[in-house]
Amino acid sequence: MGKKADKYLETQEWSIVERGFHREKNAVSESLFSIGNEYCGLRGYAEEGATAPSLQGCYFNGVYEWSEKETETAYKGIIRRGHYMVNAADPIKTEIFVGGEKLDTGKCDLCDFERRLDLRSGLYVRTFSVRGVKFTFSRFLSMTEPCNLYQKIEVESTQPVSLEIKLSVDFATKHWGKKGRWEKVSSHAEGNYAQIVGKTQSTGQYLACAQEVEASGDCAFRPEEDALSAGVRITATVAGKFALTKHVACYADKTGETKGKMPAPSPKKSFEEALAENISYYKKFWAERDIVIEGDEENQQGIRFCIFQLGQTYHGACPTDNIGAKGLTGEAYSGHAFWDTETYCLPYYLFNDPAAARDLLLFRYHTLAQAKERAKMLDCKGACYPIATLNGNEACDLWQHASLQFQPSTGVAYGIRHYVTVTGDEQFLIDYGMEMLLEISRFLRSRGEYGADGRFGYFCVMGPDEFQMMVNHNCYTNYMAKKTFEYTVECFEKYGDRTRLNVEKEELAAFSACAEKMYLPYDETRKLFEQHDGFFRLPHIDIKSIPAEEFPLYHHWSYDRIYRNDMIKQPDVLMLMLLHAGDFTLEQKRANYEYYEPRCIHESSLSPSVHSILASELKKEDDALNFFGFAARLDLDDYNRNTCEGLHTTSIAAAWLNIVYGFGGVRSDKDLLVLSPSIPSIWRRYAFRLQYRGRVISVEVEKGRAAVSVEGDPLRAIVCGREETLSGTREFEL
Ligand code: BGC
Repeated sequence: MGKKADKYLETQEWSIVERGFHREKNAVSESLFSIGNEYCGLRGYAEEGATAPSLQGCYFNGVYEWSEKETETAYKGIIRRGHYMVNAADPIKTEIFVGGEKLDTGKCDLCDFERRLDLRSGLYVRTFSVRGVKFTFSRFLSMTEPCNLYQKIEVESTQPVSLEIKLSVDFATKHWGKKGRWEKVSSHAEGNYAQIVGKTQSTGQYLACAQEVEASGDCAFRPEEDALSAGVRITATVAGKFALTKHVACYADKTGETKGKMPAPSPKKSFEEALAENISYYKKFWAERDIVIEGDEENQQGIRFCIFQLGQTYHGACPTDNIGAKGLTGEAYSGHAFWDTETYCLPYYLFNDPAAARDLLLFRYHTLAQAKERAKMLDCKGACYPIATLNGNEACDLWQHASLQFQPSTGVAYGIRHYVTVTGDEQFLIDYGMEMLLEISRFLRSRGEYGADGRFGYFCVMGPDEFQMMVNHNCYTNYMAKKTFEYTVECFEKYGDRTRLNVEKEELAAFSACAEKMYLPYDETRKLFEQHDGFFRLPHIDIKSIPAEEFPLYHHWSYDRIYRNDMIKQPDVLMLMLLHAGDFTLEQKRANYEYYEPRCIHESSLSPSVHSILASELKKEDDALNFFGFAARLDLDDYNRNTCEGLHTTSIAAAWLNIVYGFGGVRSDKDLLVLSPSIPSIWRRYAFRLQYRGRVISVEVEKGRAAVSVEGDPLRAIVCGREETLSGTREFEL
């Protein structure tokens, strides 16, 4: 794959640890040491300031700005105004003067530097000493009361030292290094308390923050307010130990209804009390979600980091939240959610937290009106879901993606079906799912066409492989549309009279006709699906001949040069073979893997895990393990050299898939759950748990054997190729 790990962190099972300050890696560490609780995300920046590569960021889910400029010329179908998640206030702005000299971690001679993120509490701690004074900075976001953030600064000195520390909430933040976007609405500071309300410039959203600081010893407090900040200045002379603890409550008003009025203060908790609550939260979290890998410390740490970050990004706290490609850890991808949500992330929630999975789908239900508007802009009927969005509107200003990619729409339909299969929640289908299916099918019917040969399909599209644009009959798009039509018709036949939706028989018949006449380019002799009509005739390029320095290709090759050969960015046909695994034979999977894998450059981080899953099924152990190592440690080892911009949150969901679908051999696209575990030879044991139709299934795999336990009613499933009734604990030979 040509990508190399860039390791500088320690490998520990339950923590992420950087020992010694890696100045040039500071922005990478800021991403890796991010903390979040779905409501808010805070990068792991040094709050006291560090002259070092940095992207200081704090983000609130659903707090955004419209793009600065509206496009003047209105080309139909091309968006005129985008939106992006905006960098919010710095809630823990800290300035420290020791003996009158400003502390700058990037410039000082630091001794014993360590930063550590504890995956069992969400506590992030940095320690170091400067000229005999030891500093410890700790912070965490409450997982149970998401508006609340806690910060503690401990100072220890054997000699008396004069300290001046300013702790404030500061709206003078930059976005992508550019001018800030916030206006101050009001502020107030008194004694050890300060509050401030800021407003976004174009969307009229408010962020209200209140801080209270407590000191462990003698000191003086001086409240301070300025143009964009409010806080308190503390002065003290320290000999021995001194600590400041700050609690900040932040309220994001996304609709503007408070008109900037400060909400009532939240009930007070001490740093220790709130931390104890986080520890109990994570105890339950890990008891339910941990994946254990014995015999491979690096991947053990990797997968736990992925699970931890998924929990920080989204757990279904609010139905207007979604999962940005970078979560709440950076400004790249503008905080937008993509088809990644239903295709890559949803399975993690389906099998761990079905209520959160339902909320993710409800996000699409609540934004159906915008998807209908979008379909109209594309001269179509029904609903077309956006390729990139925060609020339901299409935000992607690259027309070839926004107008030609339909995997968000077919992905929503797939997600609905997957949700119902895994949870059995038919009522969701009746109340919400069928309306979305109907509108998506209407879109797919109006966007598709019958060609001169009478076959139905999509002309001028871009499938998941973004290196091929304006192609005809992209196999993925055609196949996913076919399945959408079929499922829509099936649902209306089964539950039509239980919904309030009126659909004419003729319309359902037209959907069935589209499905039946759908063209799927396929070469029967080679058992190969053609990625699109004409793909097999494209000039061949040997991707191994591309020099490593030319990656990422987007930066080194012109767009049109990328588009005109048979090199692919990420799985397309192979993606189908994962999503609809039960529809394809092993022979077909092998033929297509062996054809497409050598053509794939994995320019998308979503790519390796899909290859690993298929490689496991095809018993290609080396490929399976290599691709998995990349997926599970993508950010920890900065494989793509862009972790500094934020974590690859949706790709880390794919790392979870990689264990469960890959090594665990789980398939959930048909009525019976499939489990077909295998174990890489370097692992001693691994174990995971799943929720499935009201049961909890635990899977433990060792060399030569697997144990499957079911809590709840017996379950019919296919295990190691045989249909079985699972109940209690059963052992299987591998
Ligand atoms: C991939 C898309 C993906 C997006 C966000 C792109 O590089 O090609 O498939 O939706 O990143 O993760």
